[in-house]
Amino acid sequence: MNVLVTGGAGFIGSHIVDGLVAAGHRVEVLDDLSTGSRDNLPAGVPLHVADIVDPAAVARVFDAARPHAVCHQAAQMSVSRSVRDPLFDAQVNCIGLINVLEAAARHHCRRVVFASSGGVLYGEVTAPAPESTPANPVSPYGITKWVGERYLKFFAEEHRMATVALRYSNVYGPRQNPHGEAGVVAIFCKKLLAGEPARVNGDGHYIRDYVFGPDVARANVLALTADLPTVVPGTLTSLNIGTGLGADVNDLEAMIRTAVGDALSRRGRRVTLPLPEHGPARPGDLRTNLVDATSAGDLLGWKPTVGLADGLALTAEWFAAQTA
Ligand SMILES: NC(=O)c1ccc[n+]([C@@H]2O[C@H](COP(=O)([O-])OP(=O)(O)OC[C@H]3O[C@@H](n4cnc5c(N)ncnc54)[C@H](O)[C@@H]3O)[C@@H](O)[C@H]2O)c1
Repeated sequence: MNVLVTGGAGFIGSHIVDGLVAAGHRVEVLDDLSTGSRDNLPAGVPLHVADIVDPAAVARVFDAARPHAVCHQAAQMSVSRSVRDPLFDAQVNCIGLINVLEAAARHHCRRVVFASSGGVLYGEVTAPAPESTPANPVSPYGITKWVGERYLKFFAEEHRMATVALRYSNVYGPRQNPHGEAGVVAIFCKKLLAGEPARVNGDGHYIRDYVFGPDVARANVLALTADLPTVVPGTLTSLNIGTGLGADVNDLEAMIRTAVGDALSRRGRRVTLPLPEHGPARPGDLRTNLVDATSAGDLLGWKPTVGLADGLALTAEWFAAQTA
């Protein structure tokens, strides 16, 4: 199958590219390299440097790649930027999505898979949220993910496409960009490897559902390519992708400190890493956010395979290798 991955040079997108290539599919990538990097891509995968906001550029890429399926990962994904600049956020996340969906419809793509977000759709929860939880996005970024799913449903019905929205929890792993505001694991790894303390916001009692990037990539590969009886033309299927398990930021920081310490000692550097410092609480940060991925298990046969301690060890090892 020919698959076009938008945002394929980014963190999650590049793991999806790896998974598709390993499964024998022909993959091309559309990315503007605003946060992604060519270095994330395996040799031989064509990269089209283009902006999804530009309809003519998107059309050219589709004409060159002739995809049977599209995996849409490209997005403006900073919540705080979306608050500061909702117009830019909507241009990339709504207009960009429509450009991709229009091109997918023109090319009669069989499936479109969209990176949605459980974190921003469900808001504060007390237990892992199922997909039936009412959406309550509070930031412009969250609103675009919610609206994005509505556009998927419209295009599915209007153009007889099969569409899937995967609502990720907090994704972490190798290749995550540590320079953004999201990606606490990447940010803490980078800080600790530089010998600096991780900065925990407020009291750190913020519980999140951390899922490993390559596990999320496997869910995308299944959603794009598996024979799924209910994923048929004219439908939108929304599925949570997460572990349902919570960790608070204080525990997470301690686990990352151990993982980074181990990665450094494997390199012959036995150092005592600094304890975290606490900054002010960020207004609006949710206390608890977890997703229930039972439906992804039932439909895709998907389950997370990498537990948090193992995933953090692999991630710390990757960041240590980058900074060596
Ligand atoms: N990381 C998470 O925890 C998480 C959680 C929920 C949802 N998501 C969603 O998953 C997707 C991938 O996120 P990620 O964590 O890999 O981030 P990322 O920043 O590593 O990947 C996004 C990619 O899209 C590209 N891109 C951005 N704007 C573009 C544009 N206008 N045109 C073309 N390419 C553009 C970037 O260069 C980058 O390669 C995003 O849609 C994000 O909203 C991520």
